[in-house]
Amino acid sequence: MSETGLYHLSQEHEMIRQAARDFAQNEIAPIAAGFDESGEFPMETIRRMGELGFMGIEVPEEYGGAGMDALAYVLALEEICKADASHGTIMSVNNSLFCHGILKFGTQAQKQKYVRAVASGQAIGAYSLTEPMSGSDAGAMRSTAARDGDNYVINGRKSWVTSGPVADYIVLFTMTDPKANQGGITAFIVETGLPGFSVGKKEPKLGIRASATSEIVFDEYCLPSDNRLGEEGEGFKIAMTVLDAGRIGIASQALGIAEAAYEASRAYAGEREAFGQKIGEFEGVSFQLADMKTRIEAARLLIYNAALAKERSKKTGERYTLDASIAKLFASETAMFVSHAAVQIHGGLGYSKELPVERYFRDAKITEIYEGTSEIQRLVISRLETGLR
Ligand code: CAA
Repeated sequence: MSETGLYHLSQEHEMIRQAARDFAQNEIAPIAAGFDESGEFPMETIRRMGELGFMGIEVPEEYGGAGMDALAYVLALEEICKADASHGTIMSVNNSLFCHGILKFGTQAQKQKYVRAVASGQAIGAYSLTEPMSGSDAGAMRSTAARDGDNYVINGRKSWVTSGPVADYIVLFTMTDPKANQGGITAFIVETGLPGFSVGKKEPKLGIRASATSEIVFDEYCLPSDNRLGEEGEGFKIAMTVLDAGRIGIASQALGIAEAAYEASRAYAGEREAFGQKIGEFEGVSFQLADMKTRIEAARLLIYNAALAKERSKKTGERYTLDASIAKLFASETAMFVSHAAVQIHGGLGYSKELPVERYFRDAKITEIYEGTSEIQRLVISRLETGLR
């Protein structure tokens, strides 16, 4: 579809999109099914993506990144996810949940040490908010960090940490003042090589199987106060601010999955024959393809719009929560709608591991769950719109 005037792709944007597309189709697409099957973490391609600048697209060059804008990020992520959502998950956590948060709230020293390593692909970053008893209700966490002179001693168990088993550094949210509830949460940058850190249960997942997800456990883990991100008690707002950026990434991931599922369906509908005609000539299939395409293009506009709002926010400091939540809600439900239809259009073949269509269907589901479920996005949108709680 042509550009609509709502956004403009510069030559630089076209170049990053093409570079991501080439890498995704040549290097990732051929290995995606194998890594999905084995559940192995694709370290080699992730490192190469780091060398090419995909792990810190919006990170300024002085901190080891590509120094591009928010639109460049979503364009590249969409292309990677069109080939494999697992690679996209790892890329989005490194870019949005790790680098973005430290760039926004970190000290110079934190940016030089941690952002540089992750943006250049030399290290893997993660973000840890969720706990076994605290998911959507992110303020209800029980893990603690107790001040001990110039250090903090951290104890507790976090869950559903993307890249948890392989991360070098993790942006962690934990309670420094449990009595203050949400207001007692503080953010830290944790190094996983220090004593007292261990990886807990690995999650056997339905989709994005090559992205490693696990619990992480802190047992008398001692961290210097220089590793605190922001001030004590600021953690909840930091977590939410970072998730605004993260949700645009997940929306782009959903768009990439939806596009892959749609393109496979369009091609199949033009080849497969039944009852003496191409199945795409049946209204039942052609109308479905039309609905898939329409939702994809609507999702694209919402995502690019949210990316532009994020870019403006770098200058104005204005929140773009509403744009991010709308984009994530619509794009993730589009990915589910489109990949569900894609399986149906392909019939038995859509249910077979011989084609990637069943993987698109399994991968799409997570986009309606992580970084805030669709229900949480509806809650955020309606609260912002009505002012009611
Ligand atoms: N930006 C900045 N500040 C924000 C904010 C945002 N987007 N959202 C809320 N805040 C601020 C509020 O302004 C408020 O500040 P004041 O106290 O000064 O007024 C404070 O934070 C508390 O906000 P709320 O009262 O709205 O908090 P709440 O508890 O009622 O609801 C919620 C918040 C929207 C439900 C939130 O808890 C939420 O988004 N939950 C979902 C969590 C989530 O997405 N988890 C996924 C984890 S990451 C993951 O998936 C794993 C992975 O590795 C990929």
